[in-house]
This record gives sequence, C-alpha cells and structure tokens, in this order.
Amino acid sequence: MKFFIDTANIAQIQEAHDMGILDGVTTNPSLMAKEGIKGEAAIAKHYVDICNIVDGPVSAEVLSTDFAGIVEEGKKLAALHENIVVKVPMIKDGIKAIKWFTDNNIKTNCTLVFSAGQAILAAKAGATFVSPFLGRVDDSGWDGVQLIEQIVGIYNAQGFMTEVLAASIRNPLHIIRCAEAGADVCTCPLSSIMGLLKHPLTDLGLEQFLKDAKSMQ
Ligand code: E4P
Repeated sequence: MKFFIDTANIAQIQEAHDMGILDGVTTNPSLMAKEGIKGEAAIAKHYVDICNIVDGPVSAEVLSTDFAGIVEEGKKLAALHENIVVKVPMIKDGIKAIKWFTDNNIKTNCTLVFSAGQAILAAKAGATFVSPFLGRVDDSGWDGVQLIEQIVGIYNAQGFMTEVLAASIRNPLHIIRCAEAGADVCTCPLSSIMGLLKHPLTDLGLEQFLKDAKSMQ
C-alpha cells in the first residue's frame, strides 16, 4: 500500500518525505485555504513547491463544476508539473471530464466518493485513482472500511485498473484496516502516520536497553 499525505502544509510534507515513506500527496480546496494561499499564481506556485519535494503523484483539485471549466482548469494544473494528478469531483460533468482527461493522457483522482456505484462510474471513465472518504462515512454512522473492501472487491472482480485511494483517514487503525482491505493507497494526516510508530512496550524496552547499555560503559 502506498502512503500519501493529505495536507497542503509544506513542513508536514517535508517531514513525511524525510522519513522516507512518502509516495505522494493529496490536497483539496479546504486544505489549501488552511495554508492561507490566495490567488491563481500563489496556488500554482504552491503545487509546484509540493511537487519539488515529493517524487510521486500530487493531487490538485479543480474548482469548476461544469465540463468545459473542469477541462480548462485541469489542463492548466497538469501543465504545472509532471507529478500533478487532476482531482475531479464525483458529479456528472466530473465523470465526463475524467473520460476526457483519460483520453488525453492526463492522470485523475475522482474525489468525494461515498458509494460503490460512484466508484464503478469513476473506474469506467478511466480515473487513475478513486477516493472513497472513509472517515466521513464513519462520521455519518456507516462503515467506511466496509466501503473500501467493497470497492477493492469489485475492481478485482472486474479487472478495473483504477487505484483505490482510501481518503479521509482519521487514525492509525484506519490505515491498518485499509492495508488489510487491500487499498492501493492510503492518504493520511501526518498525525495518523506518526501514530503508527507508537507502542508503550517499544518505549519501555528502549528505555531499559539504553539503561543497560550505560552500565557497560
Ligand atoms: C481526500 O483526498 C481529501 O482531501 C481528504 O482525505 C478529506 O478528509 P477529511 O474528511 O478529513 O476532510
């Protein structure tokens, strides 16, 4: 399973990259706004800055919701850097645009996916990635991991090439469950990735080893 980080924060992207475990980045308009980025030029520069850190797919989301607008914006985003993947919402014009991008060799990430039916449409249009938001599914009282399992099962049964990118991760257990479910990619906040490191027995064991090592000096 590939590890993407779900943020537009340069320091966090750099930190995950420096650990050597980062395969890519996903952003969305809320994450970009959180960084205080304003205006087309600043947005473009920020995406290029991210691409210059991470040697892997970087999802940049379109803001348009009509076919012509999505295609126009997506072409501009894709031209910024070879790592850019155009992130397109799961709407009718979005699916049409994903098919257009597929036919024109532009990589896409179909976002805001909450059902197996939506995931089938994204794959039929040739999306490079599909992003089921498992945390938001959990938040609304449904089972997000079950959705990931269902989509992975359908894609395997049908031979779809679209990669299942588990999104809206809330904690380290989500990452483990996505790995079990066979997700191709997990996009996570830095805190969830760091959470995987933690175990009290590791801390206790290390403390003892260091103490015993001192007695040998
Ligand atoms: C996916 O690509 C989205 O950016 C993200 O995972 C949404 O997560 P949230 O539900 O924590 O906002």
